[in-house]
Amino acid sequence: VHSRKRDLLDGIIGGTEETTTGVVRLRSMERAGELRYPVIAVNDSNTKYLFDNRYGTGQSTIDGILRATNILLAGSKFVVCGYGWCARGIAIRAKGMGAAVAVTEVDPLRALEAAMDGFLVMQLREAAPWGDLFVTSTGNTRVISRDHFAAMKDGAILCNAGHFDVEIDIAALEEMSTGRRLIRDEVEEFELGGGKRIYLLSRGRLINLSAAEGHPAMVMDMSFANQALAVEYLARNGTGLNNVVLPVPAEIDREIARLKLQSMGIRIDTLTDEQERYLASWEWGT
Ligand SMILES: NC(=O)c1ccc[n+]([C@@H]2O[C@H](COP(=O)([O-])OP(=O)(O)OC[C@H]3O[C@@H](n4cnc5c(N)ncnc54)[C@H](O)[C@@H]3O)[C@@H](O)[C@H]2O)c1
Repeated sequence: VHSRKRDLLDGIIGGTEETTTGVVRLRSMERAGELRYPVIAVNDSNTKYLFDNRYGTGQSTIDGILRATNILLAGSKFVVCGYGWCARGIAIRAKGMGAAVAVTEVDPLRALEAAMDGFLVMQLREAAPWGDLFVTSTGNTRVISRDHFAAMKDGAILCNAGHFDVEIDIAALEEMSTGRRLIRDEVEEFELGGGKRIYLLSRGRLINLSAAEGHPAMVMDMSFANQALAVEYLARNGTGLNNVVLPVPAEIDREIARLKLQSMGIRIDTLTDEQERYLASWEWGT
């Protein structure tokens, strides 16, 4: 719509965006003055990324790896590239299955979180000869590349749960290999000479969608509630909005959390009048 079908722009009130990568691109368009209608960043809603990205991607990525390989995670050396919302879900689940988990990051804050969450944190070049299995979930390109492949041990397994198929430099892997064959569905073996083999899952595409079934409905319900309610919000208010990337309104986010708890049969406490007054005051307790 913003490039090849610009004639459609006139009829569009607004849009919504589900994914981290999509929101990153839309913010670039906003900065460049290229965004032609308001877009609600559904991904950035608490009831989306804290659950779908973390628990949905966490579980379904492990599911994809296991369905593709049937390896034993317990005792394995598992490297997660990135410690964003998807990656931390993967790291937590791998740790829960008994793997020793190392995290690589470029953001000091997230690296520190990973360290204090109890993960090994190291550079990927240190992790390359250490890991049995590598999972990328950064939204970035060529995160695992030529030098890393060269340093990996025989039998290393690589997969991606982040963006498209660009996080693992497959072109470099192909160039370095002397032979390749599909050894089972979703598992391709690359021979790197000297008897070393590296296994790439699902051609570097999203492992949780290729080898498993994606996120369970029990977490996508919140993501799609955000989509539906954001569309309703745009239909009611869209014509008065600027052409920028907007958050999902906080009331919608809270209401989705409330409804999800209700659907799970979980009740929570409410503030007493006194507690509300206490929290709103500055005279008491200071
Ligand atoms: N597989 C799925 O079903 C699924 C679901 C949701 C999101 N995603 C995708 O997963 C990716 C990550 O999403 P997110 O919500 O976790 O994003 P996020 O922004 O929370 O985290 C990405 C992290 O990767 C780090 N990073 C960037 N480049 C790196 C590098 N070279 N090495 C190590 N770390 C690096 C960043 O510092 C950041 O902490 C996005 O592309 C998103 O679209 C996939």
